[in-house]
This record gives sequence, C-alpha cells and structure tokens, in this order.
Amino acid sequence: MQTQLLKIDSRHIDTEVIKKAAELIRQGELVAFPTETVYGLGADALRPDASKKIYAAKGRPSDNPLIVHIQEIKELALIAKEVPETALKLAAAFWPGPLTIIVWKNDRVPYETTGGMETVAVRMPNHAAALALIKESGCLIAAPSANTSGKPSPTEASHVAFDMNGRIPLILDGGPVGIGLESTIVDLTEQRPVILRPGYITKEMLEEALGVEVFMDPGILAGEQETGRQSGLKPKAPGMKYRHYAPKAELVLVEGDMASVVKSINELIKTKKKEGLKVGVIATDETKEQYLSDFTVSIGAREDKDAIARHLYKILREFDQSEVDIIYSESFAAKGLFEAVMNRLKKAAGHRILYV
Ligand code: TXA
Ligand code: MG
Repeated sequence: MQTQLLKIDSRHIDTEVIKKAAELIRQGELVAFPTETVYGLGADALRPDASKKIYAAKGRPSDNPLIVHIQEIKELALIAKEVPETALKLAAAFWPGPLTIIVWKNDRVPYETTGGMETVAVRMPNHAAALALIKESGCLIAAPSANTSGKPSPTEASHVAFDMNGRIPLILDGGPVGIGLESTIVDLTEQRPVILRPGYITKEMLEEALGVEVFMDPGILAGEQETGRQSGLKPKAPGMKYRHYAPKAELVLVEGDMASVVKSINELIKTKKKEGLKVGVIATDETKEQYLSDFTVSIGAREDKDAIARHLYKILREFDQSEVDIIYSESFAAKGLFEAVMNRLKKAAGHRILYV
C-alpha cells in the first residue's frame, strides 16, 4: 500500500484534505492525524473491521483497548451506557483537551474497539485538524498513538511515516505536537475517580475540577518497577502493563542529587567505554556539557517542564538512529507534569533504575 502524506495547517484547515481523510475513515480505512498530545492512528470506532485494522497496523495486542475520539461533549452520550456527573464536570473543565475518561460502554461500541472490555475510553482532542476530521467523517474515531506497538508515541509526522509507511493510506502532517505525552486517563466507573495513566492534566487539576480526592491506580507502579511487578499488582489500563517507549539500546535511569548523578554517570561511561561500548546520555541544559559520553542530548531546561515532556519521545527515537549501546538518563522529581514524564521514562527503561 502507498502511504500518502498531506500537510494540514490548523490555523487554515484545507477542507479538501479533510474531506479526503474523512472519506477514507467512512470507508473503514486508517488515517493518521495530529492531536495536541501525540499523533493518532484513526478509524471508525463503531466498525469492528475498522478497529481490527488498527491492531494489525500497529502490531498491537488485541486485549489493549482504543480511545474513542469525539468532537462535541454531547457525543459522549452516543457511546456511554450512562454519563456520570463527574464526566460532565471533567468535560466542562478540560475538553477539548488532553484528558481521557473511562465510562461504561453501551451496545453500539464493539468489543473490537474496547479490547473486550465493558468500558470505553473517550476523549475530545484539542486540535483543529483532529476535530475537523471527526466532524467531517460523521464518525467517532478510535485512535491509539500512531506508533508501532512498543515504540515511543509519534510527536511528528515523520515518526508516523517511519513506523507506518506502506501500512496505511494517509498521514495528515500537522507539524510537531504541542504536548508530546499521551493524555491523562481517569477511570469514572468506580466510586472514586482513579488515574490510570498520568499525563498533562495532573491529579491536582482533576481534584480542583471535581472537588473530591482523586486516586492513582496502584497498578501504575507495577508497570514501572520491579517491586510493583513482584507485588502482583496489575495496572487497570491494559496498555500500561506492556513494555513501552523503549529505545533499541538499553536505557538506565539514574536518580539522586544532580552532582552525584553526573559523577556516577561519568564513572559508568568510563567503565562502559573500556568494554568497547558506545554510551549515550539524556542530560538537561544545566548538565549537558559535563558528560564524557559519545552522544549527549539535552531534553531541556529543568524548570521548563513542558519542553521536557515535549522532547522525550523525539529523543528516544533519535537514540535509535545513533549507534549507542547503552543510554543513561537523568531523572526528575515525579510531581505535576514530571509524574507523567517519569512514568514514561521508567517504562522506557524497563525498570532499570540506579539510585546514587
Ligand atoms: O493522548 C492520547 O491519549 C493519544 C491520542 C492519539 O489521543 N492516544 C493514546 O492511545 O495514547 P493509546 O491507545 O496509545 O493508549 C490508550 C491507553 C492504553 O493504555 C489502553 O490500555 C487504555 O488507554 N485504555 C483504553 N480503553 C480503556 C478502558 N476501557 N479501560 C482501561 N484502560 C483503557
Ligand atoms: Mg500508545
């Protein structure tokens, strides 16, 4: 299959491009499109055959459910068994935006879309091209991140092309995304709201909007750490249990105060170099000049959390193009947006963390 790449500018949406993409969606085909978080791989959410194509193109395990994207809050009622009060509060506060909510599904949503689950994940993205595509297609659009399963999510159209070339008919290129990490997922099917995946919308922001305490799925840790795995806890979002975002080279996180981290990483670099290995480092603007590594990339300035989140996946992909055998990364105190950054970094590192 030939993959076409068409540019789309959110400030001046080209209706011909959107019409073409929408027609493909209506035909049950796949279209990759930009959102504010990461690129999505879209298909008609209510057609089992269309959803199945998504799993095939990504090489995704079929028990890992998809997020259904809508373009108006009221469309939530089309697929939810009932719309809880909490959902309306969160929608009013954060939609369109980087928040996915989980509610009980109704019969219109096929199990192919929900990975066999009775619940459905729903999000209204904050991106003009994504909203225009959903609207023009007249469909609700199921879309996971547009990467091959296991790889970092795409934050630029070139990442999508690298993974999906020849597998899908169309990629809409809206340039680099704004946020760079997938949406926060909050489960509203139980008594208490529970975060299943941390993201740009933090626990504190959710609590402020709901006026009640919001909990973290204890299983999230299980996806991040050896101790979590040993405890037998499973994350409630099926996707959080898989190894993810992993670069080809081994990635090791190093935690501690800044000076000790730099010193320890440099000692490790010397040892590895003696073994004939090439070493990469994920540094910050503050430290990037201090490393003896073969390939050093700064993820951003420490006080600029947004930039660090935005750069993470691109950097992980860059390391795949470099020849390094092992990568050491600095860590961040897991508060606010850094909670999501550390969640992804730990998964990418496959729970290899050094405390210095
Ligand atoms: O920002 C995002 O959310 C992006 C853009 C494209 O919207 N999408 C995205 O989709 O990250 P994906 O498929 O890569 O991640 C969806 C996550 C998976 O971890 C999946 O297991 C979880 O959501 N999920 C989906 N439906 C669920 C459900 N009913 N219950 C629990 N977890 C669910
Ligand atoms: Mg994904």
